[in-house]
Amino acid sequence: MESLPILAIVDLGSQFTLVIERTFRELGVRSVVLDPKRAAQWLQTHPVRAIVLSGGPAGVYEQTAPQPPEEIFSVLTPEGEPVPILGICYGMQWLVNRLGGEVKNAQSHRGYGKARIRLIGRHELFEETDFEQSVWESHGDSVVALPPGFKPTAHTLTGVIAGMVNELGTIWGLQFHPEVTHTQFGKQILANFLRLCRCEPDWQPAGMINQIRQRISKELEGRTAIFGFSGGVDSTTVGAILPDAIAVTIDGGQLRENELAEIKRHAQAAGIRRHIIVDAKAEFLQAMAGLNTRWRRALCRLCALVSPSFAEWLFALVDAERKRSAFKRVYLRVLMRVAAEVGATIVIQGTLAPDRIESGATGGAMIKSHHNVGLDFGQLIQLHPIDHLFKYEVRALAKELGLPASVYNRQPFPGPGLFLRIIGVAITKARLDLVSWADARVAEILKRHRRDEEESWHDHCSQLVVGLNGVPTVGVKGDGRVYGPSIIVRGVKTADFMTADGIRFPALIKDEIEAVVCQHTGIVRVWYDEMKKPPATTEFE
Ligand code: XMP
Repeated sequence: MESLPILAIVDLGSQFTLVIERTFRELGVRSVVLDPKRAAQWLQTHPVRAIVLSGGPAGVYEQTAPQPPEEIFSVLTPEGEPVPILGICYGMQWLVNRLGGEVKNAQSHRGYGKARIRLIGRHELFEETDFEQSVWESHGDSVVALPPGFKPTAHTLTGVIAGMVNELGTIWGLQFHPEVTHTQFGKQILANFLRLCRCEPDWQPAGMINQIRQRISKELEGRTAIFGFSGGVDSTTVGAILPDAIAVTIDGGQLRENELAEIKRHAQAAGIRRHIIVDAKAEFLQAMAGLNTRWRRALCRLCALVSPSFAEWLFALVDAERKRSAFKRVYLRVLMRVAAEVGATIVIQGTLAPDRIESGATGGAMIKSHHNVGLDFGQLIQLHPIDHLFKYEVRALAKELGLPASVYNRQPFPGPGLFLRIIGVAITKARLDLVSWADARVAEILKRHRRDEEESWHDHCSQLVVGLNGVPTVGVKGDGRVYGPSIIVRGVKTADFMTADGIRFPALIKDEIEAVVCQHTGIVRVWYDEMKKPPATTEFE
């Protein structure tokens, strides 16, 4: 029987809510994420040991700001003591405002990114952390006066309150995000919180596979299921857990050099019994060129008589979200067609928690729509067996399942693939070929150069992103003028893809990349993108 969650996270709209959940899981404690509107009812019927109020993009004085229920102040532990509460960022500001302190929209101090804080006195929450430490902030408003009965636990080096606690030691606030890896002692702080709440570890990663298998097998009984199989770590893991579902790989022209061969190898390694590969290149290319209806195609042909580049400009999908929704539409159509052909009534996807977070499906802001979130399959039942997990957790499941290293170490690659790697210009077959060629050459070079004894520069990247920047620039080749697109190279280092550091490649490697890539007559320059996420994202679009 499933044990009850012992920690409740009230989701106030933060990008990081599921990262809080994941960090507690890593610390061995299961938690439940609650919509603030439904939290009261849940808290009345389930015993909890602690309540966390997440961050969120709203300001406490906004009419529509999410409100945790009043009940959080009267919940008792199974021993009859007040349940400890931890407010993070907006969660802390909400507590301050509700309990009689003051929050201001401090234009002079908007906390985005890394900051240093200093502790004020010694507190259980900061045990085994340094007196001065780095934290990650993301807030516009600041706390300027604490509620009666509260004292500050930390402040930033500029004197802004960074943490608080009440006299009983039952209500805590942190103005920064302990759940993101950029916060130096974030995990330690959350571990301290679990200890002060007396939350015992109750989550074992090894049991997860059985749980998923049991839960999904029940749904699959007597039914035919298909699942979107990209050959990446997520869908290969789902395939290994559920080998009877029919794997469907859609080749829409978005795949990299030799990727189809790797996908087939991974299907075999996962023990998938039936694997269908659909060649939908023409269908996708048409949609990605903005020519998905008959009248658009006819009009485009007419315009092309006057000027092909004008026609391309008029119909092309260049905007990232328009491309993503065009991809999603065709992806859905192709999967539904295959489902009808094989008589499937269930569609399974390898959706992960970050896909849902960034698509806005968990209540936060929409950063980008993921191709596998929010699809309307009509009568077909949709299952997302691993959508509560993060990438590194799925890698752990893949290892546990005995899948090869090429699966559990595989870098992620977005569903819309190379379509998202052509930036600022229309997607054409020629540009797909160009970016695919450049991607393969850059990857080869990075694989050849060792960063240390352990790993190559390619393996050092959590993800390598090679894109084609369509904005033309001038260059010189063979003493002649060239005018054309450039290649952008981006390597990121991250554990959970929610935050990431940009990698700086050594000059020697950059020189080699430039020399090789610019041999192509169609490529003028190479740019390097070393931005962090946030404010950038891993992909360019
Ligand atoms: P971003 O760019 O959002 O990328 O920082 C985070 C991770 O998600 C991948 N990604 C996607 N994966 N469908 C996917 O299956 C998508 O639409 C999609 N968009 C981004 C991205 O490659 C990175 O690993």
